[in-house]
Amino acid sequence: MKTNSNIIQWQSPSNIALIKYWGKHGMQLPNNASLSMTLKNARTTTEMRFLPSAEGMEVNYYFEGERNQLFEEKVILYFEKIKVELPFVDDYIFEIHSSNSFPHSTGIASSASSMSALALCLLSVEEIINKKKYEKGEFFSRASHLARLGSGSASRSVYGGWTTWGSIEDYENTSNERASTLGFDVHPKFEKMGDAVLLVSSKTKSVSSSLGHNLMKIHPFANARYEQATDNIHALMCSMQVGDFDTFASIVENEALTLHSLLMTSSPDGMLFRSGSLEIIEAVRSFRATTKTELCFTLDAGPNVHLIYPLEEKERVHRFIRNELIQFCENGKWIDDEMGGGPMQI
Ligand code: PMV
Repeated sequence: MKTNSNIIQWQSPSNIALIKYWGKHGMQLPNNASLSMTLKNARTTTEMRFLPSAEGMEVNYYFEGERNQLFEEKVILYFEKIKVELPFVDDYIFEIHSSNSFPHSTGIASSASSMSALALCLLSVEEIINKKKYEKGEFFSRASHLARLGSGSASRSVYGGWTTWGSIEDYENTSNERASTLGFDVHPKFEKMGDAVLLVSSKTKSVSSSLGHNLMKIHPFANARYEQATDNIHALMCSMQVGDFDTFASIVENEALTLHSLLMTSSPDGMLFRSGSLEIIEAVRSFRATTKTELCFTLDAGPNVHLIYPLEEKERVHRFIRNELIQFCENGKWIDDEMGGGPMQI
């Protein structure tokens, strides 16, 4: 951990949603609850230096060693948004250095890792400035709330393992304001999970998630979608408790295909699948049927495919990727990740 009293550093992971958040209202509140798996290797490291300023807030933002104007503007907008909660931001100069452990546009959400790292840094800075330490549970709950205001999915990255965000009937401690860890023990099969991210295309997405969320406001299937997501999250959590992989896989895949169907049927529409995405989906289904390997696919709002599997299947899944799927990956690229324990202050 950094000992210098005006430097804070956090490392925070990305996550992959299995029940998708797609559609929001008010101050970044979700229209349905989502559930995700926090990753281990895909992380953002953010260092925040802060000094009192006589002339109001100033932010200098560096990404991977270079000043980045675009990100800087986004961070300033975010600071403006959260200053009702953290008024000290108005009186400080911040120098922020951020870097990712994973390449850009690979199907790993950098907004989740970067916004959660930023929120964690801000809370640690607040503790120093106000000379008041939060109790651990309160710290992470508040960090999740602050991260949510930057990017909805970032709220889930402040916890390791399985995380939900959004109120879920019968599950105490769930909230639209912030994420929480599962309030139950999962079956041993779901305790350690792998995620292999297959890079189908690294071209920039034609539909950003903020545009996608907005399109849901006028989407003809919106209400049916929110009902389906509610049914899916309940059924998925049951399958995780009893260790029913078949049900788990069918819900996870249904969620991914639903997300893309919503995109394809919104106005204007978005077609983010590539032929390689479909080839991989078909190959995964046929491999699962013939070998009984426990693996399934999900996709974020992009063409790249995540293979989700209990970690004990790792060897079989990796062999399958090398033998059959690598041909559909851009330059043969894929990323080997797994479930991780959450953020770390360094
Ligand atoms: O957090 P946002 O605003 O980038 O939206 C994330 C949307 C999805 O990644 C498609 C789904 C999710 O729940 O992470």
